[in-house]
Amino acid sequence: MDLHADHKLVTLTKEICEGLITKAPLSRLDTVDSCEFLVPTSKNMSLNGVEMIKKALITGITGQDGSHLTEHLLGLGYEVHGIVRRVALEDPDNRFRRISHLLDKVHLHAASLESYPSIFSVISRHEVDECYHLAAQSFVAESFSDGFSTMNVNINGTHYLLAALKELRQHCRFYFAGSSEMFGKVRETPQRETTPFHPRSPYGISKVAGFELTRNYREAYGMFCASGLLFNHEGPRRGFEFVTRKITNTAARIKLGLASELRLGNLDAKRDWGHAADYVRAMHLMLQQPQPDDFIVATGESHTVREFCERAFGELELDYRDYVVVDDRFYRPAEVDQLVGDASKAREILNWRPTYSFEELVTEMVQSDLEANSRTLT
Ligand code: NAP
Ligand code: GDD
Repeated sequence: MDLHADHKLVTLTKEICEGLITKAPLSRLDTVDSCEFLVPTSKNMSLNGVEMIKKALITGITGQDGSHLTEHLLGLGYEVHGIVRRVALEDPDNRFRRISHLLDKVHLHAASLESYPSIFSVISRHEVDECYHLAAQSFVAESFSDGFSTMNVNINGTHYLLAALKELRQHCRFYFAGSSEMFGKVRETPQRETTPFHPRSPYGISKVAGFELTRNYREAYGMFCASGLLFNHEGPRRGFEFVTRKITNTAARIKLGLASELRLGNLDAKRDWGHAADYVRAMHLMLQQPQPDDFIVATGESHTVREFCERAFGELELDYRDYVVVDDRFYRPAEVDQLVGDASKAREILNWRPTYSFEELVTEMVQSDLEANSRTLT
């Protein structure tokens, strides 16, 4: 059977099968005391009154992308399951802050990306149709400080998930969170799906390995495994350690008199910055295709860190040059100087386009940080 077809195999009771066989445009495969049908996976279906609700499993559900993806999938009618660390369950106010408004709508399961049995156990207990593997040590600078943990979580964690799905749920569609960091010292501009990889950090190397594992499971076992090669995407839920949020949050604090300077590293690095809410739509679209494939997701526009500062401080009627201090501590041992993606394949095949401009992204982040910091004053 072609596992790539845009269908999934479902098992129905005999009574429901009998009602369906003459009515539904489905392929009947088997009838013994239950029947198996191939049904389209592109949307939730109502079959003879039985709602075929799709189930998604998200690793990294507490992160920036996990929270946006959860909202998106819930809006599409999915049942959403998430893997969280046990430490997160013990510190919900802090660790679940991005999904606090969704807690009564999702199913959370404690598991560790470092433990194959814990992942195996979650997947064995829930019949998920789609798995979005977002969890990772995602901070590039940290990967230079602790390359071993980054490799362990990002490579082995991906391998454990793929191996458990192969063992238990070969029909489950798998999304891997690849990164433009894989292009590193870029060989061509803009970067396309065919651009060779040249990662410049343990993080980038771990993502190349995860990408290759994902491709290998697709080729070796015929599983529906797709990778998104996503360029930087941000928003008000971005972690404070990443440069965009560090800039918007500190600029807001300076405006309110809560800080006096912003210490940064390389101001000349160029990034292709989009909005996370736009990018999670592309993740979902990748898993609805007839065949698994890999896609660049980017805006096609690139700006320097300096331009981001100029825009963010300008939004608050401040001049960044009065506050930004270049600090060697924030330089990286090996830098990725410039990234800009060509997302024409995603545009043509997924019909995906970003809706946020660079200016709208910066404005939203600055205003959100201004509001949040103002609240701490009252
Ligand atoms: P993020 O905000 O840093 O979230 C990372 C998530 O991974 C969190 O839920 C975190 O859980 C979880 N996690 C980290 N280490 C873990 C471990 N050892 N075991 C279990 N869970 C662990 O990252 P993001 O921006 O949403 O990015 C999502 C994915 O896309 C990542 O794989 C990232 O590398 C990739 N990516 C991001 C971008 C971007 O610009 N945002 C671009 C390309 C690719 P806790 O809450 O418990 O820490
Ligand atoms: N974080 C940080 N802090 N970056 C700084 C600073 C600083 O003080 N000063 C300058 N930069 C520069 C970095 O050297 C880098 O060139 C750029 O700002 C962006 O850094 P980050 O915001 O930390 O993001 P990143 O590009 O390294 O990685 C992000 O995007 C990748 C996709 O390209 C992360 O989200 C990765 O997980 C993701 O894969």
